[in-house]
Amino acid sequence: MSTIVPATIPLLDLKGEVEELYEQLHEATDRVLRSGAFIGGAEVEAFEAEAADFLGVRHAIGLNSGTDALVIALEALDVGPGDEVITSAFSFFATSEAVLRLGATPVFCDVDPVTLNLDSGLLEDLVTERTKALLPVHLFGLPAAMAEVLDVAARHGLAVVEDCAQAFGARSSDLDGRRVGGLGTLGAFSFYPTKNLGAYGDAGMLTTNDDELARAARSLRNHGSSPNDKYLHERLGHNSRLDALQAAILRVKLPMVERWNLARRAVAAEYRDAFTRAGIMGDNAVAALDWAATVEVPPVGSDGVQAPPNRPEGLKTPPNHPDHVYHQFTVTVAPRDRRRYEESLAAAGIGFSRFYPTALTSQPAGFRFGSAPVAEAAAASVLSLPMRPNLTAVDVETVTATLRQVASG
Ligand SMILES: Cc1ncc(COP(=O)(O)O)c(C=O)c1O
Repeated sequence: MSTIVPATIPLLDLKGEVEELYEQLHEATDRVLRSGAFIGGAEVEAFEAEAADFLGVRHAIGLNSGTDALVIALEALDVGPGDEVITSAFSFFATSEAVLRLGATPVFCDVDPVTLNLDSGLLEDLVTERTKALLPVHLFGLPAAMAEVLDVAARHGLAVVEDCAQAFGARSSDLDGRRVGGLGTLGAFSFYPTKNLGAYGDAGMLTTNDDELARAARSLRNHGSSPNDKYLHERLGHNSRLDALQAAILRVKLPMVERWNLARRAVAAEYRDAFTRAGIMGDNAVAALDWAATVEVPPVGSDGVQAPPNRPEGLKTPPNHPDHVYHQFTVTVAPRDRRRYEESLAAAGIGFSRFYPTALTSQPAGFRFGSAPVAEAAAASVLSLPMRPNLTAVDVETVTATLRQVASG
């Protein structure tokens, strides 16, 4: 008999969404199957036009992953060996991998302890004569401080590539409520299935208002082909085309994103209320990550017995910001408490994850450029809790009650 107990509240659950949209998905995929056109073509072009319209950009270019979107964005800007790209020290590895893949150097900017996005106040000091671009990440669905990022870019003549993988549909209230992906020079999106807008396989997209960069990106996604002659190759490119089945699925889901993002915001508000009622709400204003200096495992005494851990501190919730679209609901806890919270969640069948357990400055891939103490403290403190548009109030109460058991010692 299997001993695997299915999670009662999984971290993510795409089955509910498929159920909700089953008829439309079935019709869309059937349409593609019967069309016999599987790569590019009318379905992909229609999705690109609809996505560009939704995001308020001139060009949306379908690709086969968010990682390729980052690589192609940087290649279109001619980033290569000897160039530096300033990016956040706290993100999924793909952000820095794209820079490294092109032989350029990622220069890591430490993050703000509350937003966990790059600390825009540190940017200016990182700019050198080698800097070619800024690469902010809208981590967990919260737009980076783009007004400040654009300001530094304008002062130094730098391009800005937004990593929008986790923030489809988010708006920047500092920039007239325009959506991410249309704020910088280029925007890179991932449609990995768990994203706020996700395909049912790998997929991605680049956005830009610049006609020349759009032309370069279209060529790069298809082996560097010329727009007029597909067998004339102007440059080295990639096979990074979006397929028609994924485009058709994305077309079904795109009209739902606004409502789903609002639902995510409502779930975040429920978490905050529940944490407050349960008395486990930490104070974001108090030196957010100072506790990172505390030890994770309580010391073993001379008798070999582990001292009882201290009473856990509260859980600090993500910033309650009107632009947040909560790709993840990532709280921070004292590092010494994290394992106890995780054990309690696991015992209750509640999904969780550490997004991300290692800062980009400490990755073993060997690219340890500089240090970022706040990002490193964040990596020791983060705990992502179940988040999806259809998470119920009862689910939120169950998660909260489980966390409270630990917090009340
Ligand atoms: C911040 C960030 N950047 C880039 C990527 C890469 O996207 P993909 O998995 O579609 O290649 C992801 C996600 O997976 C991500 O979360």
